[in-house]
Amino acid sequence: MVKKKPDYAELIKAGEIPQHVAIIMDGNGRWAKKRLMPRTMGHRAGMSTLKQIVKACDDIGIKALTVFAFSTENWKRPGEEVNFLMNLLVEYLHKELLELHENQVRIRMLGDHATLPSECRTEIERALSLTKDNQGLRFNIALNYGARREVLDAVLALSRKLQAGELQEEDINETLFSSLLYTHDLPDPDLLIRTAGEMRISNFMLWQIAYTELWVTESLWPDFTTDEFCKAIWDYQQRERRFGGLNSSPGQDEDYA
Ligand code: IPE
Ligand code: IPE
Ligand code: MG
Repeated sequence: MVKKKPDYAELIKAGEIPQHVAIIMDGNGRWAKKRLMPRTMGHRAGMSTLKQIVKACDDIGIKALTVFAFSTENWKRPGEEVNFLMNLLVEYLHKELLELHENQVRIRMLGDHATLPSECRTEIERALSLTKDNQGLRFNIALNYGARREVLDAVLALSRKLQAGELQEEDINETLFSSLLYTHDLPDPDLLIRTAGEMRISNFMLWQIAYTELWVTESLWPDFTTDEFCKAIWDYQQRERRFGGLNSSPGQDEDYA
């Protein structure tokens, strides 16, 4: 008898939905290589996965999605691939913006944009200003993003405030530091998904993922489906988050009664 696959989209409805999901979208190059195609075709295929996952977040009721699209280290790649990725982002925003806006999606870019090509900056500005008051999904695209640079930027902002006398040393705490990061008005991610099997963080949200649940799949990003996304959420729902404390299962407290 063939065992029926669980319907994760249905199953997750009964559990707690993560508020903020972050994704390291990896494996586009490998996907293309397997098909003897140029790497750029993998990036294009990855773009359609992104469209589906954004829609799924909206359907599931996730409040914030942060995707890693281009790291501060990705500039090491050949110029041709970098240009393709930048143009792909412009194309994506150009084609998808109105639909995202109609669905109340609020777009935010995380990273340093001053050094991006001008067409990219124009398209980003348009997306940010059009969607800034939207009340739906918070969709954050980490582009030219590096977590170490983000932390350093916060340290610099902090030091300027100290020098200007706007802050005293005793004001410095985790909440204040978080308020100086690119993600200042977002909760920390509950779940971090990485596709393509790599067991590393690659300079993504180092401060914010201190207690995030990690979930890695061998699927390459262009092959990642809404169904697998729901499976990740299902697995998340089975985890017990302890934040350094003790578990809350019955009997635990009795040990100390
Ligand atoms: C992820 O896919 C996209 C970016 C990093 C821009 P990769 O291009 O890293 O794909 P692999 O890891 O080489 O397969
Ligand atoms: C991480 O993937 C960055 C993005 C997904 C944008 P990489 O492919 O750059 O990571 P490494 O080089 O395998 O660590
Ligand atoms: Mg990669």
